[in-house]
Amino acid sequence: MRHDHLLSAHQLSREDVDRVLDRAAEVAADPGAFRDRHAGKLLALCFFEPSTRTKMSFDAAMKRLGGETVDMGGVESSSVKKGESLADTVRVIEGYADGLVLRHPSEGAARMAAEFVDVPLVNAGDGAGQHPTQTLLDLYTIRETTGLDDLTIGIMGDLKYGRTVHSLATVLTNFDARQHFVSPESLRLPRGVRFDLHEAGAQVREHTDLDEVLPDLDVLYVTRIQRERFPDENEYHAVAGEYRIDAETLDAAKDDLTIMHPLPRVDEIAPEIDHTDHARYFEQAHNGVPVRMALLDLLLEGDE
Ligand code: NCD
Repeated sequence: MRHDHLLSAHQLSREDVDRVLDRAAEVAADPGAFRDRHAGKLLALCFFEPSTRTKMSFDAAMKRLGGETVDMGGVESSSVKKGESLADTVRVIEGYADGLVLRHPSEGAARMAAEFVDVPLVNAGDGAGQHPTQTLLDLYTIRETTGLDDLTIGIMGDLKYGRTVHSLATVLTNFDARQHFVSPESLRLPRGVRFDLHEAGAQVREHTDLDEVLPDLDVLYVTRIQRERFPDENEYHAVAGEYRIDAETLDAAKDDLTIMHPLPRVDEIAPEIDHTDHARYFEQAHNGVPVRMALLDLLLEGDE
């Protein structure tokens, strides 16, 4: 990889994406070949925010590469509780490990932390900012299902606070993709993200109504309303439950529409969809392991 750290989707050229996804496909085809690849190496997991998939799949990925992990544990049980700064925390932890995975509630936290460490640092989500490794597994899933060429994708839900959306939309500008953003008016893409997409020459349309675009879509990427990021709970209740996919919604969709979701879902996708061929979100979550194995392999190999 060109970079030692993966902090933002802006770093990921099409070439970088292809390199990670090709390596992930090799991993998926023959995981045994990677079993001892990083034996003796340690990856530090620093999660200042709740996580199930991201943390466990990084943990599994490192162990499946023959390495091990050290986990900071929850904020409640760490020195952060004593008032330690993020800069000090990561400075100390980098001395324990060969790489560091950081999730933090503040936007820009990973970029700031990277100033203080020499080992590769991976942003596993910084507030409403970026979540580039989710994007890599999203793209892997799209490549395995509909393919990444000539793609029409709808991205729906919380486009304002959804960091998975910000990262995915950014990297898709490197592909031949038409992006349709569907959300309530109050949760539209942040101005900065919209500006970057236009600067990159992306084919972007915004909608408040899914029906306007559903029949054209190859992929529908549904997201959770990020309740924890709303400054005002009333604002959340005003939009909660507004965008929900069920069997009836899909009447107008293509037969081979792929439905994705970074998970966790709350009620955006009715469980009745889970058993249809449209549903790819569990497979998408499982792809987190080979994709993160591939990424770690490339980052740690570059380190040797
Ligand atoms: C996402 C996140 O943390 O941004 N979860 C994940 O990593 N799969 C999405 C979300 O929390 O809604």
